[in-house]
Amino acid sequence: MRFPVPGSWFRVRVQVRFWVLCSVFVGSLFGAFALRAHAQQPRTTKDAVYSAAQAKRGEAVYKDKCVACHGAKLEGDFGPPLTGEAFLGIWGGLSLSELVDKIHNTMPADAPGTLTRPQVLDVVTYILQANQAPAGAADLAEAALKQIALDLMQAGPDSMRRGPSGSATTAASTTSFPPTGTVNQVMRGILFPSSNVLFDVQTQDPGAQAKGGGAHPEAAATTARYGNVYEPWQIVDAAAISIAEIGPILMTPGRRCENGKPAPVDRADWQQYVQGLVEAGRAAYKASQTRDQATVSDVTNVISDACANCHRVYRDVPTNAQRCTP
Ligand code: HEC
Ligand code: HEC
Repeated sequence: MRFPVPGSWFRVRVQVRFWVLCSVFVGSLFGAFALRAHAQQPRTTKDAVYSAAQAKRGEAVYKDKCVACHGAKLEGDFGPPLTGEAFLGIWGGLSLSELVDKIHNTMPADAPGTLTRPQVLDVVTYILQANQAPAGAADLAEAALKQIALDLMQAGPDSMRRGPSGSATTAASTTSFPPTGTVNQVMRGILFPSSNVLFDVQTQDPGAQAKGGGAHPEAAATTARYGNVYEPWQIVDAAAISIAEIGPILMTPGRRCENGKPAPVDRADWQQYVQGLVEAGRAAYKASQTRDQATVSDVTNVISDACANCHRVYRDVPTNAQRCTP
């Protein structure tokens, strides 16, 4: 068993990883930046926004296309639960159009894009019904989706709470980083690629590669070896989520920069840059969920700006010793 010393090889490897991460976003730069703003949402799912007959149709879709992964009671199985706090924590406060789009673009996970829009609307009303949203007289219509906020919060002291902006709050901190992905997605985004690099060390000697300039074929080989495990869009999802979830990691007190200086986590501008990157990651995830190349291409500008904002101040300074200091 070998334990490579984190010297120059390590740095190069980290840099390669970063470019691997960034390269999934590289694409053609066209199309309009389509990040939708949260408009005022005058209605909520408490306002009887669908009919019982529609939920009944949705139940049939659910039993045919969803039950295998999400469970007979929507309690979750292979896929996450579609009721309860775990679900509400992600979707509470967002607009119905986002949930409809998510399902339309990415579900059923084994055959995305196969449901018609009316089928998606129907199945969403079945999910609403399962979350105790009241039924009314009229069907839920496409035109209303953006105006209706998901308000399915259950009573109880331990419920996960979300404000209208969709941010979860904790008692301990004022800056919060609500989850964007499932544990699985975080694993894919952060731990899967990192651990593959470590697993590879078991069979390939990182010290054996050619020193100095040129390509690093072992990095390409690793990517190729695991390249077909996940669907390309899932990999884009995971890359976005790895950025959206980076907040706590960049805010961990006591983390040091290479020159020994602590990451300036108490400084307001650092916090603002981290927050900016997290928001960019969330925007990228949202873009990825559209399964539209141009939408994702557009959001890459937001990502690179968020990186550059912080680098300008804390990295790209005249000497290494000045890094991570104001
Ligand atoms: C082959 C398994 C599978 C099928 C079939 C499937 N899903 Fe999923 N679903 C998943 C997985 C895995 C995830 C988590 C990853 C993701 O969000 O893309 C998920 C996520 C979701 C989410 C987001 C949940 C959250 O907490 O963020 C919703 C909503 C959803 N599915 C609805 C549906 C609906 C409605 C159907 C039927 C039309 C369906 N799914 C069919 C596997 C499946
Ligand atoms: C909150 C501040 C901050 C943000 C946001 C940030 N970085 Fe950094 N980055 C740094 C600092 C500080 C360093 C230098 C760390 C050190 O010297 O230990 C660094 C170093 C790096 C390095 C290593 C460069 C080298 O010299 O080897 C890469 C690569 C990098 N960042 C990429 C990114 C990317 C890509 C993003 C955006 C997705 C990003 N960073 C966002 C602060 C940030």
